[in-house]
Amino acid sequence: MTKQEVIKKYQEKFGNYTPEVYTSPGRVNLIGEHTDYNGSFVFPGAIDKGIIAAIRFNGTDKVRAYAIDLDEYTEFGFNEEDLPKEGWAKYLFGVCREIIKRGKSLKGFDTAFAGDVPLGAGMSSSAAIESTYAFALNDLLDLGIDKFELARIGQATEHNYVGVKCGIMDQFISLFGKAGHLVRLDTKTMEYEYFPFDPKGYKLVLLDTLVKHELASSAYNDRRHSCENAAATIAKRHPEVKFLRDATMEMLNEAKDDMPAEDYKRATYVIEETQRVRDVSDALERGDYETVGQKMYETHHGMSKVYEVSCEELDFLNDVAREHGVTGSRVMGGGFGGCTINLVKDELYDSFIKDAKEQFKAKYGHEPKVYDVVISDGARKL
Ligand code: GLA
Repeated sequence: MTKQEVIKKYQEKFGNYTPEVYTSPGRVNLIGEHTDYNGSFVFPGAIDKGIIAAIRFNGTDKVRAYAIDLDEYTEFGFNEEDLPKEGWAKYLFGVCREIIKRGKSLKGFDTAFAGDVPLGAGMSSSAAIESTYAFALNDLLDLGIDKFELARIGQATEHNYVGVKCGIMDQFISLFGKAGHLVRLDTKTMEYEYFPFDPKGYKLVLLDTLVKHELASSAYNDRRHSCENAAATIAKRHPEVKFLRDATMEMLNEAKDDMPAEDYKRATYVIEETQRVRDVSDALERGDYETVGQKMYETHHGMSKVYEVSCEELDFLNDVAREHGVTGSRVMGGGFGGCTINLVKDELYDSFIKDAKEQFKAKYGHEPKVYDVVISDGARKL
């Protein structure tokens, strides 16, 4: 939907006023998965798909919100007990509450929003909503909150109002994204570096299984819990270890017998994935996309067999990519469904997409959706 179309929907709902319009994107992540709640690195980029919201203060102390794509409307106040029942509205409400908890005051507003970042596809549609509203309210009310804190507001919304104990990657990149650049973020120090990403001769493409993930379904939180337990167990011998990012495989092995086997296994994945992000950073500096691709396959293997956050359909697409000679492929995001991200040589692109569609359809009855990745800017006013 374009800015004009969102404004039109807003006006149909709330009257012939002129709202301000903001947007925030979804994201891809080249490598570094389930590392962002372990103090480790991630390598995301914002994409050209996201949320567009029209917003205007309404002179009351209530929010009146319209989700254009779902054709659903709700209203809520700013008190903790005003939590709306609609899932999408919890994101807006959470952002408002988290801003208020930081000592700022809000005013009631009318808003209509639409998005083209697919829901539940591992491309962070929810972070796009959170970042849009955190950014917009901060800007419109001149709240003086910096972009790191806006990201934390989105993350705290997930923790406190949605029930997903997510890391900071999605909200960070939705705010800090830059066209043509991936960002390597150190989630322990929040230091970040932009990497120009223009792999000549390759394309990045997402294949969406259309299997909907349920991050909130506790599998995500379970893994986070395992990682925290493993780090705390290691810290008994090595107090300097605050996160798994600080631990080596040797330290983990010393503590192996003091933790559940499942936590140990999950921790090995995180320690290996941390090293893979470092290797990919070095490879990118050299323009060595073959190594980048190899590491992507290793991540897929780790996510599927060790961390166990893949699913049959994702593994199938990963196999098709490998058999086709695709440079790199892996499940992207939290997992349990959604997309694979694929680094494909230009000359293989057409035949790979054709093959993947046909083979997937023959097995699962529908084609995967294909999204070409265009690395774009973060949150902004339109
Ligand atoms: C989800 C979470 C992120 C991150 C990824 C996995 O997208 O929101 O914080 O943990 O999963 O890398």
